[in-house]
Amino acid sequence: MPAGDGSPWQGEMSRIYAGAMDQMVGQAPQHISRADKLANASQAAGARQLSVIVPTFNERDNVAVLFARLAETLEGISWEVIFVDDNSPDGTWQTVQELAQRDPRARCIRRIGRRGLSGACIEGILASSAPCVAVMDADLQHDETQLPKMLGLLQRGEAELVVGSRYIDGGNADSFNRQRRGASEFATTLAKKLLRVEVADPMSGFFMIRRDRFEQLAPKLSVQGFKILLDIVATGQGKLRVVEIPYAFGSRLHGESKLDSMVALDFLGLLLAKMTGDAVSLRFLLFALVGSIGLVVHLAVLDVSFNAFGYSFAESQLIGAVAAMTSNFLLNNFLTYRDQRLKGLSIVSGLLMFYLVCSVGLFANVGVAFSVYGQQPIWWLAGAAGALMGVVWNYAMSGLFVWRKR
Ligand code: GDD
Ligand code: MN
Repeated sequence: MPAGDGSPWQGEMSRIYAGAMDQMVGQAPQHISRADKLANASQAAGARQLSVIVPTFNERDNVAVLFARLAETLEGISWEVIFVDDNSPDGTWQTVQELAQRDPRARCIRRIGRRGLSGACIEGILASSAPCVAVMDADLQHDETQLPKMLGLLQRGEAELVVGSRYIDGGNADSFNRQRRGASEFATTLAKKLLRVEVADPMSGFFMIRRDRFEQLAPKLSVQGFKILLDIVATGQGKLRVVEIPYAFGSRLHGESKLDSMVALDFLGLLLAKMTGDAVSLRFLLFALVGSIGLVVHLAVLDVSFNAFGYSFAESQLIGAVAAMTSNFLLNNFLTYRDQRLKGLSIVSGLLMFYLVCSVGLFANVGVAFSVYGQQPIWWLAGAAGALMGVVWNYAMSGLFVWRKR
């Protein structure tokens, strides 16, 4: 039965519920205040206790299985599940919508033109309403039977954040291959040392948090990347009461892992951002990284054109700049803006746009290099000065015109 939708018969239903409650507890209606009645009514109508957030990308076949398991394990608890799908090519969002049609406990947020595990989780949490929120994978790797226990800890005030942990007694990540286990352990050690995080498994993707605590931290969290728990723990340092409970990290049911080698970069970015007190953003760091690679490309091409092929300095500088622009574009598309990556034909139009917006930067580049070279004919110094000018311009303009936020 739909509750709290403000329909005209809502008040009527509440009265019936409240009345029923009165009879159940054997009290005369006049002993119960109006506020108590309302509270009872909303309890009986099932005020939501738990929102489960499940980020999905190509998880079509896992949705129904997960939902059935949640329904079984959360019997007697008022809950909802929100799938946040980044427009999966396999149509996961469609499967979720069909499910949501049949069962109001399920909801779908379909995001178009965006990617990113952390951002999806944040958006899902903020779109939900229960006082406690859990985050878990769609693929059944996280043990959903732990949820009632996690909820109990939060509800009794024994914790504000409960982490499903693979790295404490009773937990394990046996389903990981050696390589993945090594990477996970290394990242965990690094995070603990550098950010002084005391949680045994800050890389876990399985946790439950009190809504009010999360909402306080939300403005400071990074929407890029995938280490949302580490971000929460590091950001809420010293202010969050954390309890870890063990669970065995299972094997994926259907589909494959979305975490590629790029997550290492994400992770380093998050570490640096948190260590510098958010002074530097992940995107900015990637920009800087790509920029310095561009500088190397520029100088290498300049060197070859000028010294090996005997082009004039101006020609060589121009060739170096075009090469650096092209590689900057491709690398930025691959790294810096991979959550908004241009694909197919848009790569070509994006590149053309990139050339266009940067042509002014290119003039500045060659101009600056020329004037430096005119004063002091040191090819690498002039080349670097020009390239730097161009790169700064590229940064500013590309965010505005090439990888526009949709
Ligand atoms: N909306 C959205 N957008 N969902 C995503 C994206 C994305 O860009 N990338 C991944 N997901 C979803 C997946 O569909 C899955 O439900 C969940 O996020 C986790 O992704 P997996 O691909 O299953 O990750 P994993 O199992 O390899 O990694 C797990 O272990 C890590 C710790 O080693 C996850 O639990 C991670 O969260 C965890 O950090
Ligand atoms: Mn998984």
